[in-house]
Amino acid sequence: MLNGDASERAPLLGGFDDDRANHFVLDIVSPDIRSPFSTGPAPHRALLSHGRTRTDSMSDDEPLRSERLVLEPLVEAHAEALFAGFSDPRLHTYIPTDPPASIDALRDRYRRLAKRTSPDGRERWLNWATRLAAQPIYVGLIEATVREDATASLAYFVFSEHARRGYGSESAGIVVDHLHRALRVRAVQANIDSRNLASIRLVERLGFIRESLVLEADHFKGSGSDELVFTRVEKRFDPSSLP
Ligand SMILES: CC(C)(COP(=O)(O)OP(=O)(O)OC[C@H]1O[C@@H](n2cnc3c(N)ncnc32)[C@H](O)[C@@H]1OP(=O)(O)O)[C@@H](O)C(=O)NCCC(=O)NCCS
Repeated sequence: MLNGDASERAPLLGGFDDDRANHFVLDIVSPDIRSPFSTGPAPHRALLSHGRTRTDSMSDDEPLRSERLVLEPLVEAHAEALFAGFSDPRLHTYIPTDPPASIDALRDRYRRLAKRTSPDGRERWLNWATRLAAQPIYVGLIEATVREDATASLAYFVFSEHARRGYGSESAGIVVDHLHRALRVRAVQANIDSRNLASIRLVERLGFIRESLVLEADHFKGSGSDELVFTRVEKRFDPSSLP
């Protein structure tokens, strides 16, 4: 599913001229930088991958990390590093986006996304560029759109040359934990073309539940797209556990 506002569509899928593609990821919320949707005290405890809990005062600009991966909040300067990966048509087979027209087009898109909110201020558009922790190699992107009702939509990319090494499920898992625990998102949704087996396996691995199938939900690249809707509801989050 692609997020975005009609007037300035955010990128839920990498960020190109296709407005339907949007990814949004939430940043760690420090005590003084709260989500606009937060109704209670701002949490500053985030569970990262491998069950590690980080309790320092991370800012919105601080990356999320696992042992293998660093998720850097997306900025305009990422366009150069991500352009080649997103130029691979294979990445766009089951999504309505096309490869970016140019590095400049990608820069423009990332500049808009780096604002991290929709023009009307009602959605948070959170995007992370995923790179290897051990080397300065970017392997993909992950996006989340967070809405005022404490729900979020998720999308993710792993460049073909790095696929099937667990980076997709690992990076998505980091973000889902972050959404639930640091940003108090109660339900995360992924809308997936029913032919996209890798994406379906990925969300199933993360405990998403298949909720529905929407026939002919979209039409792109010459055929109709039936869309599976997967949701993961956070049941473990206990606000009273926050300091
Ligand atoms: C979906 C995507 C992010 C998966 O990334 P990845 O790093 O290869 O995924 P992982 O290695 O974590 O694998 C996740 C699961 O998918 C399976 N998988 C990966 N590629 C697959 C493929 N081509 N066909 C079938 N299953 C596949 C893996 O075996 C694994 O399943 P398992 O947990 O049962 O072993 C990647 O294929 C991609 O970027 N696709 C294009 C963009 C896209 O469609 N994004 C989703 C939009 S909703």
